[in-house]
Amino acid sequence: MNDLRDKYLTAIAGARDEAALEDLRVQAVGKKGEISLQMRELGRMTPEERQVAGPLLNALKDEINSALAARKAALSDAALDERLRSEWLDVTLPARPRRTGTIHPVSQVTEEVTAIFADMGFAVAEGPQIESDWYNFDALNIPGHHPARAEMDTFYTHRATGDERPPHVLRTHTSPVQIRAMQAQGAPLRVIAPGRVYRADYDQTHTPMFHQVEGLAIDRDISMANLKWVLEEFVKAFFEVDNVDLRFRASHFPFTEPSAEVDIRCSWEGGTLKVGEGDDWLEILGSGMVHPHVLKAGNIDPNEWQGFAFGMGIDRIAMLKYGIPDLRAFFDSDLRWLRHYGFTALDVPTLHGGLSR
Ligand code: PHE
Repeated sequence: MNDLRDKYLTAIAGARDEAALEDLRVQAVGKKGEISLQMRELGRMTPEERQVAGPLLNALKDEINSALAARKAALSDAALDERLRSEWLDVTLPARPRRTGTIHPVSQVTEEVTAIFADMGFAVAEGPQIESDWYNFDALNIPGHHPARAEMDTFYTHRATGDERPPHVLRTHTSPVQIRAMQAQGAPLRVIAPGRVYRADYDQTHTPMFHQVEGLAIDRDISMANLKWVLEEFVKAFFEVDNVDLRFRASHFPFTEPSAEVDIRCSWEGGTLKVGEGDDWLEILGSGMVHPHVLKAGNIDPNEWQGFAFGMGIDRIAMLKYGIPDLRAFFDSDLRWLRHYGFTALDVPTLHGGLSR
């Protein structure tokens, strides 16, 4: 009996896993196990022998069962410790940066522009990107034969047949929103209209889809002086500087009279674009006093009301502010570019909190 005891207790202590323990249990105390067979022998013993052997065998069986249970518990503790060690996870580590999306510079700049003009009392107006020929051209004093139609590199929704003009275009500018806003709200009026516009043009500073923001202020005594002040205030706030060199150039648009184009001083030296220094100028907007025909198309009486309007390239001013030299890259969806030039989603531009930080 001592041999049996030594044999099993040693084997149990050395068992590597639960399967080995189970084998030992079957061998020792299973139905046909060595100890069970010994117990069957009890029946053939004399009562005296049985009284000695019986309790001893029962005690041995108990001892082996508890050794099995103890070893089993030790093995599962060790397995748990090993799992806790290998599956350890530091939940305080920061999120993986490559999974963080960014705000596109065009969205960022649109928010910045909106915040600045909202502070000057301009509300945001909208219009469709697929626009009728009338809103995009006629209502803006650009009749069918006007050369500006050709200059706009317009995308038409279908080819013209005969004398008939196609009824719809991809809007070539945000100016049709001027008409829609006048019709919807009447005078006095103060709105901006940011959005997508389309022209068949492609080089370092032009893409077939780009963004403009239209501005329109109508009241009884609005003048060019108000236009100049608003644009200067805007440019200073947008570029977050006290002084920016602006150049007002006399120009012509069918929908404004008089008209001015506005350039901003910049340098392209070494392939990097810097605003406020250098001898180059980048055109950022067209502007002027709203033409009486345009007011009429918007159902506003030109004898009672007048106003200024401007249309500015959002992508252009984004390039200038954030030193992005090639406009085409804006719409390539290159993740490396987006990570480099993108903005943190939670940094919402406000005048009080800072536009770009
Ligand atoms: N619509 C003009 C353009 O796209 C810009 C403009 C808007 C000019 C309003 C004057 C007034 O070039």
